[in-house]
Amino acid sequence: MMEYKSHEYDVIVIGAGGAGLRAAIEAARQGARTAIICKSLLGKAHTVMAEGGAAAALANADSRDNWQTHFKDTMKGGKYLNNWQMAEIHAKEAPNRIRELEQWGAVFDRTPGGLTNQRNFGGHTYPRLAHVGDSTGLEIIRTLQEKGIHSGLDIFMEYTVRHLLQDDEGNCTGCVAYDRVDGVLHAYSAKTTILATGGITRCWSVCSGSWEYTGDGHALALWAGAELIDMEFVQFHPTGMVWPPSVRGILVTEGVRGEGGVLKNSEGVRFMFDNVPDMFKGDHAETEEESTEWVRQVVAGEIASVRRPPELLTRDVVAKAINKEVAEGRGSTHGGAYLDIASQRSAEEIKAKLPSMYHQFKELAGVDITLEPMEVGPTAHYVMGGVRVDPTTQESTIPRLYAAGEVASGLHGANRLGGNSLSDLIVFGQRAGEYAAKAAAEMEQPALDTDQVEAACRDIMEPLSREGGENPGIIYEAMRDMMQEKVGIIRSGPILEEALKDLDEFSTRSMSANPGNSTVFNSGWHQALDLKNMVDISRACTLAALTRTESRGGHTREDHPEPDTGKWSHTTNVIWMQDGEVKIRQEELDQPPPELEKLLDRSKAKKEEE
Ligand code: FUM
Repeated sequence: MMEYKSHEYDVIVIGAGGAGLRAAIEAARQGARTAIICKSLLGKAHTVMAEGGAAAALANADSRDNWQTHFKDTMKGGKYLNNWQMAEIHAKEAPNRIRELEQWGAVFDRTPGGLTNQRNFGGHTYPRLAHVGDSTGLEIIRTLQEKGIHSGLDIFMEYTVRHLLQDDEGNCTGCVAYDRVDGVLHAYSAKTTILATGGITRCWSVCSGSWEYTGDGHALALWAGAELIDMEFVQFHPTGMVWPPSVRGILVTEGVRGEGGVLKNSEGVRFMFDNVPDMFKGDHAETEEESTEWVRQVVAGEIASVRRPPELLTRDVVAKAINKEVAEGRGSTHGGAYLDIASQRSAEEIKAKLPSMYHQFKELAGVDITLEPMEVGPTAHYVMGGVRVDPTTQESTIPRLYAAGEVASGLHGANRLGGNSLSDLIVFGQRAGEYAAKAAAEMEQPALDTDQVEAACRDIMEPLSREGGENPGIIYEAMRDMMQEKVGIIRSGPILEEALKDLDEFSTRSMSANPGNSTVFNSGWHQALDLKNMVDISRACTLAALTRTESRGGHTREDHPEPDTGKWSHTTNVIWMQDGEVKIRQEELDQPPPELEKLLDRSKAKKEEE
């Protein structure tokens, strides 16, 4: 008999980033007994890595903005593989979710007239990102945390959930977790469960994600039989730090470019002018003069009458352009590009608008960004793929299991626009909380299935009784290096095939990884368990990447360099697990109704595909 502590709730939320906190607040507001289980300390979440702002068509900085344009930009940025219903809901509801945060105490930067200020970001037609300097995610977490702890939530911090419980009909009935500090096991009966575990970017060695980002929620869903979609689409944010090596991958906010920062290669050339894809032709400045005039207008607080600089193209485009400069020998000293804000804005403006970037470069790289350019390069930042959800309720294909935020999929299609993540978290976090609580109100409390709980507990403890085997850290680092090299920003069929074989080996090695036998503060044990998620989720990405024989958004194949005009322009990859194996099939995407279709700007995209 395994020993564990039992708990009962109406709604369990797994994860305490922006989506998890917003979902839990909503569930509690609906009267549900709600708990959050989170892997880290409350307040520490990858949400803080969305620094530059939350996109919402408030139209404060530019009165031309509206939900229709936000919808169009999101669909265009996602290369039209988005779930159109999610894109519509998101564009319509984001403004109210931002206003609500303000009422709960978020201190957004202001326009001279006292409204929430909004900055420019890649792929957004108008200045749309509500922001707090360059620490917007942090402010949102601080606000939601404050609201959450006054909402009567129970919080289990530093716990890892390893297993979802299910009844005979396949409904999700709770979960099993362990306390990372002392190894005590916990079983939770829940009427409904919400996954809000964030992403998977620790599967790559150069990433902006912190240690928690090991694909836990993606894997829990997969193991329970839920469907994942779009797993080939991984966002490499164009600007991570590249030097010194100890900080490689740490995010340099797109806000730097939103405030006028320009990208140059080792020859001093602004290479983005030569990297405008057909579908964005005509949307961006074509000369340095026009770009400089845009910066002047933005600084003066005017409504821009000229086109925005090409540095504000979507992230997939900018990341690939930097990659190309480096590959063709025009990279910066340490293998990136130069990002220069010093030549565009005064030192006072830089320190006021980008205070965290100023300190980050000063303290971590010894670079004064008010005087010198930064060295930047692509870093794995976000996965567009995740749990397939109902666009209205956020319920997954497993009844009573919901997902919101990065672990869910659909809103962003093949590429996410910067700033659409923070608004995604609060829009769909709210919806997941509401619908999970409403469903729970109609249900009996499920009984804990002791056989299932005991089996899950045995799985959690199993690595501690291993003998021989490698240290889990060795396998963890080697696997991340392999994913970086073989399933990175540029992919090809034969190399992806190799990656799948490598993952078979990593799977075998990880099953015998030896973390020692202590349950107390044993990070090797946590890592040994994480390896299982990482192998399965890396396999899902690799298989989807191999299957999609075209290049689109966050998926580039050098053996299929163009977007496909046929099947792949309207098809999604669906991943699920059967008898322990990751499977894949394709499904045709639902298309928007005529009144929304007419908002979209597809003609240029079609031209590019042809
Ligand atoms: O660049 C950034 O500030 C990141 C924002 C985001 O990922 O949405």
